[in-house]
Amino acid sequence: MYCKIAIDGPAGSGKTTVAKELARRLNIDYLDTGAMYRIVGLYLKESGIGPDADEEEIQKKLENLFIEYKDGNYLVNGKIVGDEIRTAEAGVYASQYGANPAVRNFLTNLQKEICKNRSIVAEGRDIGTVVMPDAQVKIFLVASPEVRAKRRYEELKAKGKEISFDILLNQIIERDKNDTSREIAPLVKAPDAVEIDTSNMTIEEVIEEILRIVKNKCRVI
Ligand code: DC
Repeated sequence: MYCKIAIDGPAGSGKTTVAKELARRLNIDYLDTGAMYRIVGLYLKESGIGPDADEEEIQKKLENLFIEYKDGNYLVNGKIVGDEIRTAEAGVYASQYGANPAVRNFLTNLQKEICKNRSIVAEGRDIGTVVMPDAQVKIFLVASPEVRAKRRYEELKAKGKEISFDILLNQIIERDKNDTSREIAPLVKAPDAVEIDTSNMTIEEVIEEILRIVKNKCRVI
């Protein structure tokens, strides 16, 4: 019996930090599905195809994109993916192209395959609803847009990337709107997910709360 943990929530809710650390403490695999949307978003943008392009056109283009996941790293056509997918623009492209059915279909199949037959912490927007609807633990992290923009600001600043707080806040609000309003697999809390508001919590507090739920639901851990 595997332990499957789905962590969903909007940009800046703390998903990545929490999911990574959770996987490390539980000694199980970790999957960042947002990174895959970022890879595809950048790839399609560079290919000159718009997010509203015909599904068939996008599908055809995606036939030449070979994404692998090995030891916590993504490889695209054999090359390891680096920090180039972590920019604010890549996040915006991910959100825009992620609304296209051909992109969702392509990545959902890949993600379901990766999550099969293993214990895993997977994070994204539609993990509890679409990618792992059978997960024993489903967490939906939320936080106010201002808190989330502040976190992204500090994160980027620490990496030496200066970007205005207002631009980040607008991007977050715009992405929320885009992610929650798309027709397929929108960002929505699964009916059986536990919602945690992280606005006034430390990372450690969030992790401890989730660990309590995991110990209850996953007997293998
Ligand atoms: O988690 P992130 O910020 O790296 O995700 C970037 C964008 O990718 C996000 O705004 C929407 C899209 N995404 C998605 O549509 N479905 C997922 N499971 C993960 C990300």
